[in-house]
Amino acid sequence: MSEHTLTSLKCLLLDDSVIYAEAVSRMLANEPSIELHSAHAGFGDGVRAARKLHPDVVLVGGDTPDVASIVEALDTALPEAPVIVLFTSEEPELGRECVLAGAQLCLYRLDDQEELIASMRRLVARERRRRQQVLATATSEKKPARVIAFHGAKGGSGTTTITINAAVALATLSKKRVIVIDASVQSGDVGVLLDIDHAATMIDLLPHMKDLDYDLIRDVMATHESGVQVLLAPTDLERAELVTNEHFSKILGVLRKNADYVLIDTPPVLDTVSMTALDAADQVVLVATPEVPALRNTARFMQLAAKLGYPSEKLFLLLNRAGSKGAVRNEDIKTHLKHEIGLQIPSVGSSLVQAGNKGVPVALNRKRFGPAKAFRQLAVILDSGERAAKQKQRDRKAGWLKLSRSSAKSKADNVVVG
Ligand SMILES: Nc1ncnc2c1ncn2[C@@H]1O[C@H](COP(=O)(O)OP(=O)(O)OP(=O)(O)O)[C@@H](O)[C@H]1O
Ligand SMILES: [Mg+2]
Repeated sequence: MSEHTLTSLKCLLLDDSVIYAEAVSRMLANEPSIELHSAHAGFGDGVRAARKLHPDVVLVGGDTPDVASIVEALDTALPEAPVIVLFTSEEPELGRECVLAGAQLCLYRLDDQEELIASMRRLVARERRRRQQVLATATSEKKPARVIAFHGAKGGSGTTTITINAAVALATLSKKRVIVIDASVQSGDVGVLLDIDHAATMIDLLPHMKDLDYDLIRDVMATHESGVQVLLAPTDLERAELVTNEHFSKILGVLRKNADYVLIDTPPVLDTVSMTALDAADQVVLVATPEVPALRNTARFMQLAAKLGYPSEKLFLLLNRAGSKGAVRNEDIKTHLKHEIGLQIPSVGSSLVQAGNKGVPVALNRKRFGPAKAFRQLAVILDSGERAAKQKQRDRKAGWLKLSRSSAKSKADNVVVG
């Protein structure tokens, strides 16, 4: 006996013939786990009754006029409820029509109570299994990682220092999977700043591009003591040229499905790889320093971003070395760039340089140090940025649901169950 044998079934019987309906009712009367409801099958009436009742299974009398159209209407209105058509005589042609219209089964004898009940239960069990599978697939689909690219339009702005510290702070605070890709293919120094001694780099993935998967990339990535995984840039400059934007795109595509955050350190030069990274990013942390040449380059990048169609909120303006001697005033920066400053990191003399030389990010071991606090703040902003994006998505979905529910309700209000 299967578990479904004992489960109660809500069954709707649609038939125009009272005598026939009574016969079926009698057949099912001795089956306490079947809750039987009857309604007229007539076009419209049956569908309205089904919509109101939400049965597990619908039985339709095969002698009802235009039975195939009624089956089709039921299948459209309630695709989750299996439909069985009951004929009083052999009607293979009509039976075929009904199956094509969406009936799961046609029965041509009405004297076999066991067959009817067993068929109903099997069809309902099958439908429940199908629904569970759909649900399992929907819930097991992993949410893609949030991709955050870091870019400084002028060399030496502090982009790499900020990328690695943000990654460490994000991994420590959120306990989520964080990956850093060094997209400075010609001059990557993420590995140096994190003191990573690891031979494999993204160049080792190139021979495997056709069958690239996460296992392969995981073997090539280094793991930092903070838990951050790092895909290093090529060390061999001659071979670095072999990395194309297609390669980068493919690698990013795989990593996106296997992390919570992918942080990309880009060089100031806008080559095809860094442009691919910036395009693909959900957010670009634009690192600027308060000096005229750096700000001019930042403004140029912002113009390009607008031309490329990046929404303004995709850019998060981070002012590094804020308040340093002779710095351009924040008000002038905002006016010049027509963008809010999202976060400021002060100029801290040689401490960050020393941390870089040692390869120990301040976000890891100097938590009370001013810039470390700023990096934690950045991590919180980036993490809540994701929550805000998710909330926006939920709001949009809820708005849509509300809309479709209210239109469904107004439709339902216009129908009366017969
Ligand atoms: N707020 C700061 N105060 C003091 N020094 C800083 C600050 N930010 C970064 N630096 C130092 O500036 C130097 C350049 O930093 P970094 O390498 O991160 O810049 P970058 O923009 O990635 O450079 P590149 O153009 O070479 O990629 C490093 O020595 C770093 O320690
Ligand atoms: Mg750099």
